[in-house]
Amino acid sequence: MSTILQARELCKTYKTSSGDVLALKNVDLDLEEGVFYAVTGRSGSGKSTLLHVLSGLDRPTGGRVTVDGTDLYAWSDDRMSAFRRRTMGFVFQQYNLLEDYNVKTNICMPLRLDGKRPDEAFFEEVTQALGIQGKLRKYPGELSGGEQQRAAIARCVLARPRLIFADEPTGNLDRRTGEETMALLTSCAARYGQTLIVVTHNPEIVRMADKVIRIEDGAVTEGA
Ligand SMILES: Nc1ncnc2c1ncn2[C@@H]1O[C@H](COP(=O)(O)OP(=O)(O)O)[C@@H](O)[C@H]1O
Ligand SMILES: [Mg+2]
Repeated sequence: MSTILQARELCKTYKTSSGDVLALKNVDLDLEEGVFYAVTGRSGSGKSTLLHVLSGLDRPTGGRVTVDGTDLYAWSDDRMSAFRRRTMGFVFQQYNLLEDYNVKTNICMPLRLDGKRPDEAFFEEVTQALGIQGKLRKYPGELSGGEQQRAAIARCVLARPRLIFADEPTGNLDRRTGEETMALLTSCAARYGQTLIVVTHNPEIVRMADKVIRIEDGAVTEGA
């Protein structure tokens, strides 16, 4: 298996009025292509920070992140955003769908931003796999939480990112809907060979993962 993402001596310090917060302390990670990673640890341990710096959403204060050997933070912000759009997908706890657009437009948005049109057959396949073909003309506000998250997953998968980052994607769903949604996300990722990095507290979801990355007080204590 080949390494897709590598982090070396990754540090993140937040400056606050009450002093510095060391949210990440010298994290080294090697993520393999096509593997499902669960990132777990107590609240405040640095899970979201780790996801943000691994995915280029937030600059680390020290260390390096490389994706396919490319230094993520060596580029201009514009070039990095374009690279991120093509290589990475995100699924958030709050779904982040655009309320003023219907589900189909939402799902196609990342591709449109990249000047591309979705492949029709792949669009059919993904919306069917996620059970939202019947919801495409609806607006996010007309959907249940589980349906909104499935739409957000379709939006992510359709762009065929090689890496998918999800921060507590089932945090707003009831347990059963959350686990069903995760099963759909993991089967999509497995089918398309995508690397999945999911922050979760749910032991069932941790059990579904190929590998577990445990983080305590800003340091990786397992899975590095
Ligand atoms: N923007 C920020 N400014 C200051 N401190 C922050 C900020 N974001 C997170 N932190 C702090 O960094 C630490 C790690 O936070 P976070 O990565 O959100 O943890 P988790 O996702 O595991 O709950 C916590 O102590 C948190 O309070
Ligand atoms: Mg968090």
